[in-house]
Amino acid sequence: MTHSQFPQSFPATRLRRLRQAPWVRALTAEHLLTPADLIWAMVVHDGDAPRIPVEAMPGVDRLNVDEAAKAAIRAEALGIPAIAIFPHINPADKDDDGSESLNPDGLIPNCIRAMKAAAPNVGIICDVALDPFTSHGHDGLIDQSGYVLNDETTAVLVEQALVQAEAGADVVAPSDMMDGRIGAIRAGLEGDGHTNTLILSYAAKYASGFYGPYREAIGSATALIGDKKTYQQDPANSDEALREVAMDIAEGADMVMVKPGLPYLDIVRRVSETFAIPTFAFQVSGEYAMIQAAAQNGWIDGDRVMLESLISFKRAGASGIITYFAEKAAEQLG
Ligand code: PBG
Repeated sequence: MTHSQFPQSFPATRLRRLRQAPWVRALTAEHLLTPADLIWAMVVHDGDAPRIPVEAMPGVDRLNVDEAAKAAIRAEALGIPAIAIFPHINPADKDDDGSESLNPDGLIPNCIRAMKAAAPNVGIICDVALDPFTSHGHDGLIDQSGYVLNDETTAVLVEQALVQAEAGADVVAPSDMMDGRIGAIRAGLEGDGHTNTLILSYAAKYASGFYGPYREAIGSATALIGDKKTYQQDPANSDEALREVAMDIAEGADMVMVKPGLPYLDIVRRVSETFAIPTFAFQVSGEYAMIQAAAQNGWIDGDRVMLESLISFKRAGASGIITYFAEKAAEQLG
């Protein structure tokens, strides 16, 4: 950029002229946040209680299947295009292999069917990973030392994705970070005739402390042995995210995601600029909890910070945002 392209001389240039009134601010806004930018992150459970509050996420409840179906109708009314569902599984149904993840009559397939019946035009996105289903809380199968096995896990993830697609999921979203799983899932979907099932890859997913409240939400907190650093990315890395995304696109991802969101806006920017592919950011549970906690204490204006954080993803180049704020934000955006 040359100096002549950006004359700075004052008072010929007074940037405050553009900020003087709402009409001119609206006219010159570079980015716009609308309900169509939002994916509603929703926690579901397999019990009878309609709603169970998640303590570490004020304002978020775990919904039973009936409530999830009602929420899908609500999403449609609010103009939210899609919902991403995350399951809280009864501990009695968990085992070392996460076999409940393959149950065609399990919580997630039941939710998909109920939600699609209630609101067929709302996209349903399903997490592909074993952590809600394993007794040890890891995203895959482990060996005796606790190491998460890559290829063995991938084979199960393919089956899990097929169960979800069979139940009517529009999008499968692998969040496990095994190498090669996108290609394997894509081949599995094609082989089973699910040629239109979309894959949203959690392509650049970091080993993050910001997932803390989610582990309470899905009930894997007490279970988790060790950490996820042998499969999720090191927060120190940025180039590595581009390699992850490039591989997932080559293997058949339709859309990619960066996760967490706000602390990784630089990655959102790099990915969205480097690859011409829809790029989503996940404003994760810890980001949500921080805003809500400060707001509850009266330390920040929660609604204002919510909308400011959401537009920051658009500014960074995201096509949309997965967020627990989706319902609240859409209500305010009108
Ligand atoms: C599991 C998964 C996680 C989240 C989404 N899918 C947690 C993890 O990887 O440990 C986090 C969501 C959030 O924190 O809101 N594969």
